Amino acid sequence: MSCIKVNNLSKSYGSIKAVDDIGLSVKSGHVFGFLGPNGAGKSTTIKLLTTLISPSSGSLSILGIDAIKNPLDVRHKIGVVLQQPSYEPTLTVEKALDKYGMMWNVPKSERKKRMNHLLEDFDLAEIRKKRNEDLSIGQRRRVQVAREFMHDMDLLFLDEPTAGLDPSARRKLLDYLKNKVKTGLTIFYTTHILTEAEYLCDEIAIINKGKIIAVDSPSALKTRFGKEKTIKIHLFEKQSQVSSLLSEISDCKIDFENGTNLTIHSEQSELILLQVLKILNDNNIEIEDLSAVPTNLEDIFLKMVK
Ligand SMILES: Nc1ncnc2c1ncn2[C@@H]1O[C@H](COP(=O)(O)OP(=O)(O)OP(=O)(O)O)[C@@H](O)[C@H]1O
Ligand SMILES: [Mg+2]
Repeated sequence: MSCIKVNNLSKSYGSIKAVDDIGLSVKSGHVFGFLGPNGAGKSTTIKLLTTLISPSSGSLSILGIDAIKNPLDVRHKIGVVLQQPSYEPTLTVEKALDKYGMMWNVPKSERKKRMNHLLEDFDLAEIRKKRNEDLSIGQRRRVQVAREFMHDMDLLFLDEPTAGLDPSARRKLLDYLKNKVKTGLTIFYTTHILTEAEYLCDEIAIINKGKIIAVDSPSALKTRFGKEKTIKIHLFEKQSQVSSLLSEISDCKIDFENGTNLTIHSEQSELILLQVLKILNDNNIEIEDLSAVPTNLEDIFLKMVK
């Protein structure tokens, strides 16, 4: 079942088409990754899906509810962590969590239970008595994400939740989210960090200039767009003639650096490699090191949004 269904959705700001005629379908129980460069339209899409702004045109169904006709019904069932920081400076961490639970009408005993769990899960126990304004940026972000879990929801929107988190806090959050998904939560997740999307998401959409340019699973994206492999060769010593020797090889791009490093980019890098090795061998050029770099999502992403 789809819990987000979007057709021909657009949002313009004057002449800027921030979101340009997109369609989306997100399955319940999935993590849907939304990737794109700065200004691509990710946050605008999240604001549209969470009914914080209304579209210029298009239709939008969230958890089976027409989100344009009944935005408040949608808001009662979802969680949202926006990109920009949001906190009350003078509240302590525990008060901030408790107050958020109160806003969602969570009973006092349940609030206490949840708060204690979240303080542990988000490594906030030691700073529970600190005021928001005295926290580091990463700590504040963790509080902002943690408080969303004070209430129950079926669908959670996260706009770059790991921005400002250190690698271990980031991994901890991703694992926390993975566990929540196992219990039935659906997550719409934007990020710039491709390894993060690969780790967490069942499906990934890439958006560029307001348009969705690809949607697939991380592994299918790699198969579809990741045929090109990169092979790196490090020569034993500087060889200035190497670029002219290799210039006759076609169907590939070879970068030269310092006369000792070669990088081969090609969809048939293995075949190209054989030709390169033969030429190097014929000219008595010694290789010190050779490595193949598998295609990663980052390469695909950079290629697609170019
Ligand atoms: N309130 C607004 N008024 C005018 N233009 C806006 C407004 N909000 C967004 N935009 C424009 O819409 C485009 C998409 O912005 P959006 O914030 O959705 O990008 P994003 O993909 O979230 O980028 P980032 O990775 O930097 O967060 C940008 O060109 C931005 O300048
Ligand atoms: Mg954004």
